[in-house]
Amino acid sequence: MQSPSKLTSQGESIFSVMTAMATKHQALNLAQGFPDFECDPALLDIARYYLSNSKLQQYAPMPGILNLRKQVANIIKNCYQAEFDPENEITITAGGTQALYTAFSTFIKPGDQVIVFDPAYDSYDPAIKLQGGFPVHIPLLPPQFKIDWGQVEKNINPATKAIVINNPHNPSGAVLSTTDLDMLSALVLKYKLLVIADEVYEHMVFDSHKHQSLYSRIELRQNSIIIGSFGKTLHTTGWKIGTLTADATLSFKLRQVHQFQVFAVNHPLQHAIADYLQQYTPYLELPVFYQKKRDYFKTKLQNSLWKFLPCKGTYFQLLDYSAISNLPDTEMAFDLVTTYGIACIPVSVFYAGNVKPNLLRVCFAKTEQSLNQGAAILNSIQGL
Ligand SMILES: Cc1ncc(COP(=O)(O)O)c(C=O)c1O
Repeated sequence: MQSPSKLTSQGESIFSVMTAMATKHQALNLAQGFPDFECDPALLDIARYYLSNSKLQQYAPMPGILNLRKQVANIIKNCYQAEFDPENEITITAGGTQALYTAFSTFIKPGDQVIVFDPAYDSYDPAIKLQGGFPVHIPLLPPQFKIDWGQVEKNINPATKAIVINNPHNPSGAVLSTTDLDMLSALVLKYKLLVIADEVYEHMVFDSHKHQSLYSRIELRQNSIIIGSFGKTLHTTGWKIGTLTADATLSFKLRQVHQFQVFAVNHPLQHAIADYLQQYTPYLELPVFYQKKRDYFKTKLQNSLWKFLPCKGTYFQLLDYSAISNLPDTEMAFDLVTTYGIACIPVSVFYAGNVKPNLLRVCFAKTEQSLNQGAAILNSIQGL
């Protein structure tokens, strides 16, 4: 029997492709967004303790353990002066990816339109389409990747159900201003839209910028679902533990679906994170930590032909290679991994339309040694 997939046109994600190529060619992997250094040894010690607790080898409570939800509520309060009830408004998920999927699958119905800004993280589009929804892609352009809110309003019609906001923005490193949030609020309230706010890089904002979280917008509480990731915040992307925060009415509906998508998330590691966050505030150190890495990498390449685009947040840096090559970015990325031994992500794959900037994305969540190696390779490339 022929059983066509509901995602017929979907190939393997570029992150898997580039990581597989990096492994095959023994290349330095600056492509996929994960740290190549260990998380805090104190967190690992706590994790070992809970992993060996025989009482924690079975299912966790469906919404997540209460102590972890309380820690999340504390962080939201400390960082954004907003009160969320850990009992009814915070749910622990299997990473940001599941949180996003749960948000789309709870609220997007066949025929609904969802506004997505390109370049867009690759899970939004398929997650919307699997619900029978239609992503409406609005391209943001380099170097600033600013949202034109007038253009957004022109794309809103009676079928528009939701808008996806990724702030800080992967892959551009752009961050939203308070004016952006004002414009967003005005549209959301005027057209009664739902906001799916992907804030997995919330603690990685640099220079004089401040993260403008949707948590800080009281007027948006009834319309917003906010997604977080401990993978990003604690350097533990392999643990796949994230958060879904929304007011009690939205959270009730999200949990109705969450319970059948995963039921519950890794039990001992939830305890480990909760215990660790009770003692430490590692997220407060992330801006300085990652800004140093960003600046270190940039300094190493200051005399090269690679042009650094502004990076205000996340752990990604966009590199313009126009002075080096005219190759399309996908070919450039393949050449770099096969010939030069360095894997990056071509930015055109984040656009649904025909936007093909001469840009590559590199991840600087790497050790000094990897950043040195990456800079040495990139410095050696004079022309392709
Ligand atoms: C913008 C964005 N959203 C969500 C995710 C997924 O987060 P997680 O690894 O916690 O599933 C990522 C991971 O790279 C991301 O970059």
